[in-house]
Amino acid sequence: MTRPASDFDGFRLWPGLLDRAAQEALRDEVFARMRGGPLYIPRMPKSGLPMRVRMTNFGALGWVTDKEQGYRYQATHPETGKAWPEMPPKVVELWNELSGYDAPPEACLVNLYEGDARMGLHVDSDEDAWDAPVLSISLGDTAMFRIGGSVRSDPTRSVRLASGDVCMLSGAARRAYHGVDRIMNGTSRLLPKGGRLNLTVRRVTVPSSSRASPPPAQA
Ligand code: SIN
Ligand code: FE2
Repeated sequence: MTRPASDFDGFRLWPGLLDRAAQEALRDEVFARMRGGPLYIPRMPKSGLPMRVRMTNFGALGWVTDKEQGYRYQATHPETGKAWPEMPPKVVELWNELSGYDAPPEACLVNLYEGDARMGLHVDSDEDAWDAPVLSISLGDTAMFRIGGSVRSDPTRSVRLASGDVCMLSGAARRAYHGVDRIMNGTSRLLPKGGRLNLTVRRVTVPSSSRASPPPAQA
């Protein structure tokens, strides 16, 4: 397995894991898939306030949020009603190589940060498979990512996530508060209109026990 360059409490960072050609190929795959599952503006539960980041998903399940039903995973795009596009093979390959998890990923959330978009501190907690890590792939402009501990008031540290960087929240970091303070506009020319694309790859459901234990003996 590729060794991460930094590792604290389950936070792992592989800087520049994707070279420029791999970034371009993944960018193109993402944009092509977005034709079948367009970006939409997610809305906060209860208030219905729009998020600053536009989103879509690839894979069997997608993370969505709206005023009425709040945060959840579902198999269909909230606006088109269609199944999410398939996950790019490169994304599945990275999960297989880096996650150490014995089941395939189910959701790849696509976040597009434009202008002054950012993401407040939160814990990823809508998944049943808590033991599975979250893998994050950054494309485009550099983000100032912030990560703390399991309590919102815990001390935090800042990590720059540049185009081609891959990081992972596993172990204690899987339950850590994290967010994106800001995007450093103009730091990359990967995306035609600038900004940053982030892919977070997750296992949502607990793998069936038949995977973990041998099948029952035939009667
Ligand atoms: C997220 O926490 O869902 C996104 C993190 C990022 O954009 O790097
Ligand atoms: Fe998150």
